[in-house]
Amino acid sequence: MSWWETAVGYEVYLRSFADGDGDGVGDFAGLIGKLGHIASIGVDAVWVTPFYPSPQADFGYDVADYRGVDPVYGSLDDFDAFVSEAHRLGLKVVLDIVPNHSSSEHPFFKAALRDGPGSTYWDRYVWRDAAPGGGPPNNWLSIFGGPAWTYMPEHGKYYMHLFLPAQPDFNWASPEVREEFVDILRFWAARGADGFRVDVAHSLLEHPDYPDNPLSAKLRPGAAPRHFGHLEHLYDLDQPGVPEIFREWRRAVGPDVYLVGEVYLGEPEKVRKYVTGGALHQSFFFGLNALEWDPPEIVRRIRRAVEVVPAGWGWVQGSHDEHRAVTRHGGGPKGVQRSLALWTAMMGLPGTPFLYQGEELGLENGAVAAENVLDPVGLREPSEGRDPCRTPMPWTISGETHGFTDGASPWLLSRRRPDHETVEFQEAAADSPLKSMRALLAARRETVSGRVGPVRWLDAPEGVVAYARDGVAHLANLTDEPVEVEVEVEAAGAWAPAYATNGGRLGGGAVRQVDGAVRLGERSGVILMKAP
Ligand code: GLC
Repeated sequence: MSWWETAVGYEVYLRSFADGDGDGVGDFAGLIGKLGHIASIGVDAVWVTPFYPSPQADFGYDVADYRGVDPVYGSLDDFDAFVSEAHRLGLKVVLDIVPNHSSSEHPFFKAALRDGPGSTYWDRYVWRDAAPGGGPPNNWLSIFGGPAWTYMPEHGKYYMHLFLPAQPDFNWASPEVREEFVDILRFWAARGADGFRVDVAHSLLEHPDYPDNPLSAKLRPGAAPRHFGHLEHLYDLDQPGVPEIFREWRRAVGPDVYLVGEVYLGEPEKVRKYVTGGALHQSFFFGLNALEWDPPEIVRRIRRAVEVVPAGWGWVQGSHDEHRAVTRHGGGPKGVQRSLALWTAMMGLPGTPFLYQGEELGLENGAVAAENVLDPVGLREPSEGRDPCRTPMPWTISGETHGFTDGASPWLLSRRRPDHETVEFQEAAADSPLKSMRALLAARRETVSGRVGPVRWLDAPEGVVAYARDGVAHLANLTDEPVEVEVEVEAAGAWAPAYATNGGRLGGGAVRQVDGAVRLGERSGVILMKAP
């Protein structure tokens, strides 16, 4: 078995995790100091968001040097120290690789502008002429708003950017680009990286003719497309040839390096080709991100994902790109209970669950006042802003920044959190989301032998996730009503609970066993192990 098949990951948004040098920005020194917290939750791997030298136009997802460490986060020596400390604690290290685009400050892009059309560097980015009547080459839009094209008057050409103008798209038809990334992956693997999270993995190539995308049926007839969602992305995303790039990467880095992609395509059928046939190992499961809390639909989407790609998912509830899971699930104790019930469902499925920093605390969105918004998405469209999920980790009860920094002011200003959301409070409390998550992950470890076989779905009421794998069953009632689930479907034998969300008062309704059936209170979950 490969290490990620039994692992749980933890995403660290480095800028906001812990500040070691008092400049208000999270860094490697701070992260090293808090690795003990991460290990204590019971996870097995840490994914660190981009720390490479960057103008920070998109907070690190605009990379100017793929083989370095931005001084704001530390040095290569600090990176090495982080890797060795993580490894010492038994944690694998997953880095975030950004292959779709670089920063406009990357030396290749600067050289392209310097040398102009026809030069080696020019060809590493996507350049097109104006449309016949003038204006951008086609109707493509940037995910961050506005056209996907910016005009460079000195060369009379447009370059493409799926994100900000400061993030020019690489031309993945260029062999030099392909070689460069293989070399980058090898560079970090040699420094100890155990895997890579691949940013926007579904969009590296475009259709070679760059045709207009059709308008979405959702757009009012006659209206001009203004939002990424107003177009059908037939020609800018999900082009044939992309999975082959990842096959090349797999061959280059060898069998022990894990590749998980941000394949943001919605339908599991569309994701399948990226995570089968020797391409990526997994994609994150984004099926719930844009969904209101809707238990029957959540269950349907999870089941479908597992059926379409049995072991191909990195199970997530949130990340540095979405509003926090607990908030999306309804907020307050209800949101925490729903999140924990859903984690109980996700923790036994084939694939690799990933917590996002703060999810172990049941954190809600941070409150960022309009005048403090920094995210380029939030500056354009406040409701979609990503700052609320990126506010600093609350470590201590006291202190202006809950112990995130000793400095005067953190990079992203937000309102103080209630005491019960801090690590310090939850460590001291008898029951807390942190303690529940630890218990859940401990039970997952104990029952690991039961998670090798295929998933067998059990009959259960609507809105309940219920499955058995070998001698282990996971039952999660996502609804707001108590339910009963039959578990005596295999040969008779007693099932003993290895974990129940109601171990503490935060866990929703009670879980009780009544002859062959399990009674699950509202928003609760349980892991059962068959007695030998
Ligand atoms: C991915 C990242 C996001 C970033 C974007 C552009 O979606 O997760 O944070 O803004 O790519 O690189």
